[in-house]
Amino acid sequence: MAQINPSILSADFARLAEEARAVDGADWLHVDVMDNHFVPNLTLGLPVVESLRKATDTPLDCHLMIEAPDRWAPAYAEAGAGSVTFHAEAAAAPVRLAREIRAQGARASMALRPATPIEPYEDLLPELDMLLIMTVEPGFGGQAFLDIMLPKIRRARRMMDRHGLEMWLQVDGGVSASTIERCAEAGADVFVAGSAVYNADDPAGAVAALREQAERASGPHRH
Ligand code: DX5
Ligand code: ZN
Repeated sequence: MAQINPSILSADFARLAEEARAVDGADWLHVDVMDNHFVPNLTLGLPVVESLRKATDTPLDCHLMIEAPDRWAPAYAEAGAGSVTFHAEAAAAPVRLAREIRAQGARASMALRPATPIEPYEDLLPELDMLLIMTVEPGFGGQAFLDIMLPKIRRARRMMDRHGLEMWLQVDGGVSASTIERCAEAGADVFVAGSAVYNADDPAGAVAALREQAERASGPHRH
């Protein structure tokens, strides 16, 4: 089943509760946490996640684009995030960190920037519930999808299949009606979409349309 996670980075931050409800039918709400160090942009942190948790029934998928995730990521799980993603490039001890996130009852996920290869992390995959392959340089919404990431998505899915892992494969950045099918064909099953959802006249309708496209494009190899 394809899952669509609207990114509230493209929403109106002064009306977050309302914006969360505007994507009724979304599988998860993607929350981009940026610290102006790991990426050149600053968004929101724990207090906003705690409030958002109370404002919506949609589970929160927190994407931490921060330095020192070893220090901060478990607190996001504790704050009620259902899934916590840290970046491989920033984590000092990714195995310990994934275990801490799981111990807090959340799904543990690791993200790779476009230039970070997946191969060095093959043995770590069983520690994770999801792998996020960035399809833009992290930091901003509305950027163009990087087609050159498709081979990495394919290699990641093959690697997961080879190890018999049930884990999810998420793509984030430039995912829209014109790119989601390529991602699904390559083996992604969780799709983050910011501008493609929140810039649409009918955000909930855009979520449903994207899911349908992804479902149709995903091959028979998908669960
Ligand atoms: C970018 C963020 C994305 C962003 C995606 O660094 O991680 O989640 O919101 O936005 P779009 O879908 O507009 O590329
Ligand atoms: Zn993101």
